[in-house]
Amino acid sequence: MQQEIELAQLKKITDIIQKRFDFDFGNYAMSSFKRRIQRVIEIYKYASIDALIDRLNDADHKFFQEFLSEITVNVTEMFRDPTFWRELKESIIPNLLLNDREINIWHAGCSSGEEVFSMAILLTEMNLLGKAKIVASDVDNAILAKAREGKYPIKNMEVNQKNYERYEGSFLLQKYYKEEAGKAIMDKELVKNVEWREHNLVSGGSFAKFDLILCRNVMIYFNQQLQNTVLKTFHESLHKYCYLAVGSKESLIWCEIANKFVVVNNEEKIYKKVKD
Ligand SMILES: C[S@@+](CC[C@H](N)C(=O)[O-])C[C@H]1O[C@@H](n2cnc3c(N)ncnc32)[C@H](O)[C@@H]1O
Repeated sequence: MQQEIELAQLKKITDIIQKRFDFDFGNYAMSSFKRRIQRVIEIYKYASIDALIDRLNDADHKFFQEFLSEITVNVTEMFRDPTFWRELKESIIPNLLLNDREINIWHAGCSSGEEVFSMAILLTEMNLLGKAKIVASDVDNAILAKAREGKYPIKNMEVNQKNYERYEGSFLLQKYYKEEAGKAIMDKELVKNVEWREHNLVSGGSFAKFDLILCRNVMIYFNQQLQNTVLKTFHESLHKYCYLAVGSKESLIWCEIANKFVVVNNEEKIYKKVKD
């Protein structure tokens, strides 16, 4: 049976990672961080947590990249929470069109890209893909490479198709990919203007202004302090009267910056910046 990891050991790990790799996990939610560390120990068959600590102390950047991919949770789907995507189509995007300018969208924590393809499909079906500029970022370079590739196990397309139907897409999802050797190869035209960007929400700060920011199912892994910091980055990165969407189990209500946003749709967790 595996030994229970103590908080002091987690602190030791975050300190070493900070020192060796200049990466700050100190404000991740420790309960899920602990579960992921436990998982890494199992996957790599380390005899103890000290063996993992020694491995991190080697300052091997290739190992750290693999470690980072195991620590971060990459689970995602196309049109995840279909009613959210319907709300984008029926309300949020039409509102942004009233601004009569290019629509700038940031997917922060885009994982393997399903969210980005969903947005590109939504915009295509609204005849707006050419009017939008999308930046898709993640801290994990390996998952970002997968997003860029746009090749997904064909078995995943079943849930994606179901979501797309519930979203009430105009066609069949098959229109946007071809099947090859057990993979769904997404139509590259959809993302030809997407800027894929390595960006760490902990330290990366704001780098442009957007009309719509999606950061869904990412901040759930951060503690309140880090959520506040990241939300300040999003506030700074949004044009006034523009939108931020978070995951269905997340909320802006408790954060320091809440008074600068209003709730647009509480079910779908969509907020609008109303104060600079
Ligand atoms: C569960 S996925 C969410 C994917 C997608 N947004 C969705 O809702 O389906 C969480 C993603 O957040 C990324 N992530 C974790 N920490 C991050 C950080 N500090 N900066 C940027 N992205 C981060 C992970 O690499 C992972 O790809």
